[in-house]
Amino acid sequence: MNLFRKKDVGELIAESQGSGLRRCLSATGLVMLGIGAIVGTGIFVVTGQAAAQYAGPALTISFVFSAIGCVLAALCYAEFASMIPVSGSVYSYSYATIGEFMAWFIGWDLILEYVFAVSSVAVGWSGYVCNLLAGWGLDLPANITQATLNYFPDSGWAFSGSIINFPAFFIVALVSALLMNGIKESSWVNGFIVVIKVSVILLFIGFGISYIDTSNYVPYIPENTGEFGNYGWSGIMRAAAVVFYAYLGFDALSTAAQEVRNPQKDMPKGILISLLICALLYVGVTAVLTGVVNYTELNVDAPIALAIDKAGEGLNWLSPFIKLGAIAGISSVILVMMLGQSRIYYAIAKDGMLPKVFSKVNARKGTPQNATIFACIVSGLIAGLFPLQVLVEMVSIGTLMAFTIVCISIIVLRHTRPDLHRPFRVPWVPTIPILGAVICLLQMFSLPLGTWLRLIIWMLIGFVIYFLYGKRHSLLNK
Ligand code: ALA
Repeated sequence: MNLFRKKDVGELIAESQGSGLRRCLSATGLVMLGIGAIVGTGIFVVTGQAAAQYAGPALTISFVFSAIGCVLAALCYAEFASMIPVSGSVYSYSYATIGEFMAWFIGWDLILEYVFAVSSVAVGWSGYVCNLLAGWGLDLPANITQATLNYFPDSGWAFSGSIINFPAFFIVALVSALLMNGIKESSWVNGFIVVIKVSVILLFIGFGISYIDTSNYVPYIPENTGEFGNYGWSGIMRAAAVVFYAYLGFDALSTAAQEVRNPQKDMPKGILISLLICALLYVGVTAVLTGVVNYTELNVDAPIALAIDKAGEGLNWLSPFIKLGAIAGISSVILVMMLGQSRIYYAIAKDGMLPKVFSKVNARKGTPQNATIFACIVSGLIAGLFPLQVLVEMVSIGTLMAFTIVCISIIVLRHTRPDLHRPFRVPWVPTIPILGAVICLLQMFSLPLGTWLRLIIWMLIGFVIYFLYGKRHSLLNK
């Protein structure tokens, strides 16, 4: 029965009051943090590939579909974050509502999401930086810019001959150093980056529109080739599952709840507004991108840069801004995902299920230093060692599982704890959470078997740690 022991919601909230973390974030800071976390590798890299391989110009429809799934999950996150505004996100919500074992299970899943999100985005950053430096005649040697390991679907893992992806490791370390300096400083830098990346995207949409060749929109939904997912409506659906990655990050906001001035009111606003702004930006970028370049040519690493080249002389001046915007933009995704990761370690350690050293808050900076250093080492090494594709799929499966659990928990909690004060309520329960969970599950099932196996192995490691360490050291034992 120990597996179902719960933390009291009131106690959880009371504990969060004297935690030492600083309440510095306003609603605007939170929206900026949300955009900072969301807009990154997804829009700057994945868009082109999804248009070329799956959806054609109809990728705009995929982005709208994917946004609907995310908004449903975001509404559920918003209800939880306003009801239990503590730094552990879904981990803490389930500790208070379902019980310890499930909380650990979800916490371990969140660690998976944030570790792999930071690593994958850092690899994307490394690619853009190497590309920019090469454009300036500065070619970094391949043995310090590629992953140490390669994965081939037919033959499995092999050494690539590279020592480590050094730029990917470097950016993780740099961002960690910033985070250790304080949430206020981090939020300031994030705000600056968000202004740059949103301006670059708006410039692309604003100037790109006049270079659209409407013949590129014909056919708008290319005919299906006979294989599921290759164009047609099934292609639109598969592309929606792929670009789902581009929306991730709004959930990481909930881990900063303990650092927000007025979390009950501002958390739902921050989560929903940042997601909606990003959805609008994404649909705009995709419409311009597939209008300027024919979708058949978009299977490249830097699709937006390609569109600018295609537009001709008139837009050449925009090209370096786009690259710098992408590099800056991707950095802020790393920042917020690192914040999420360290706050999850902090929250679990505070409950005794990870070593206490991770829950120490530096009195001067008001940040969990040890948890941040640990997050830096783990994510930096994974970013340096593994290839992008494997990392991205791990992020998606981990996140989709977390979203599914959040949606289901909303329904459970409305029945088991109707008394809790909910400053924000999901409308039409249970329809909305059920729809959210179904959409997430459908996307999970469209991921490859290998990704599922890796998820199962990760979760098994989590069980071993729980039964050998977490269960015995849990503060609820006392
Ligand atoms: N949404 C984040 C990105 O696209 C993960 O980089």
